[in-house]
Amino acid sequence: ATPKRSKYDIVTLTSWLLDQEKSGNIDAELTVVLSSISMACKQIASLVQRASISNLTGGQGAVNIQGEDQKKLDVISNEVFSSCLRSSGRTGIIASEEEDVPVAVEESYSGNYIVVFDPLDGSSNIDAAVSTGSIFGIYHPNDECLADFGDDVSALDQEKQKCIVSVCQPGTNLLAAGYCMYSSSVIFVLSVGKGVYSFTLDPMYGEFVLTQEKVQIPKSRKIYSFNEGNYQMWDDKLKKYIDDLKIPDPKPYSARYIGSLVGDFHRTLLYGGIYGYPRDSMSKNGKLRLLYECAPMSYLAEQAGGKGSDGHQRVLDIQPTEIHQRVPLYIGSVDEVDKLENTAGATP
Ligand code: AHG
Ligand code: MN
Ligand code: MN
Ligand code: MN
Repeated sequence: ATPKRSKYDIVTLTSWLLDQEKSGNIDAELTVVLSSISMACKQIASLVQRASISNLTGGQGAVNIQGEDQKKLDVISNEVFSSCLRSSGRTGIIASEEEDVPVAVEESYSGNYIVVFDPLDGSSNIDAAVSTGSIFGIYHPNDECLADFGDDVSALDQEKQKCIVSVCQPGTNLLAAGYCMYSSSVIFVLSVGKGVYSFTLDPMYGEFVLTQEKVQIPKSRKIYSFNEGNYQMWDDKLKKYIDDLKIPDPKPYSARYIGSLVGDFHRTLLYGGIYGYPRDSMSKNGKLRLLYECAPMSYLAEQAGGKGSDGHQRVLDIQPTEIHQRVPLYIGSVDEVDKLENTAGATP
C-alpha cells in the first residue's frame, strides 16, 4: 500500500523521476537525460525572466536555417540546452531548431539517446515578456542508421547521413516528450508514456513541484486558436470551418491566440479546444516543424486523451524525411480535431 503522505511529502520532479525509474517506466540513463533537460529549462527560465535587465532582448543579428531572424535568447537557450545535454553524458545526437544539422555528442559514454528540441518557442514574444517555452522529445538511437551509405560517400558525409537517419524517426517512437512554459508560472509538462504530469517551479527553492497528475484534455470545448491574419490564404473548406465556429449556437467559439505554441498548447491541454497552424497559399506545409514542435506536442496530446493531426493523419505516424520539415498541425480536444478533419481536413 502506498505510504500515507504527510503534508510535507512534496513530490518534486527529481523524486518523481526516481519513482518512475523504480517502477521500471524509465531506465537510469533516461532519468539523467530528463534531469539535465529540467536543469536547462530552469536556467532558461531565469534568463527569460531577467531578459530586459541583462540586455538579452532583441535580435542576435543572424538568420537561422529556418530563415528566421534569431533572437539573442534563441541562441543562448540553444547553447544552454546543448551544454546541459552534453554534460549529461547520456546523449548521443541532438537536433535543434537553431542547428542547421544534427550534432553528434562526443561526451556521451552510455545511454546514447537522441534528443530533439526547440530551445525557445514563441521567441517573437520575448521582447514583450509574453509567454515562451522550450519543447523536447527523446528517442532511442535508430539502428537502421548503421546501414552503410556505399563507399562513394565520404566518411564525413556518412557520419552526417547517419545522424540525420538516426534523428528522423516517427513520433510513435518517442520515449518521452515535454515542454517548459515560461509564463506567470514556470510549468514543466512531461510524459514518459504513462500519462501527462505537470510540475510548477517553486522559486523558493528552485525545484519543480508536482502540481497535476494524469492530465486529461476535455473531450470538447468552444475555444479555437488560429492566427486568423492568414485567413485569406487558407483554402475554402478551412474558411468555411472557421466561419461556422462564429455562428452563435447558442454562443460562438472563443478565439484565443498567444503566438507561442507552448502557451497556446498548454491552455488547450487544460481547458480543451483546438489549436491550428494550417498550410496556406504561401507556406504549403504550414509553419510548425514536425520533429521538435508537432510530434512532441502530439505525443502529449494523445497521452492526455486528445489528438494531434496534420488534417488527414496522426502526426505521430508521419515519417520525417528532413530535420526541419514543416507540417500543418491541428491539436487538442478529440471532438474538435475530429470536426476539423471531417469538414476542412479533406483537402488533398
Ligand atoms: P519559434 O519561436 O520556435 O520559431 O516558434 C514560433 C511558432 C509557434 O511558437 C507559434 O505558435 C507560431 O510560430 C506563431 O506563428 P505566427 O506568428 O505566424 O502566428
Ligand atoms: Mn524560431
Ligand atoms: Mn517553436
Ligand atoms: Mn524556437
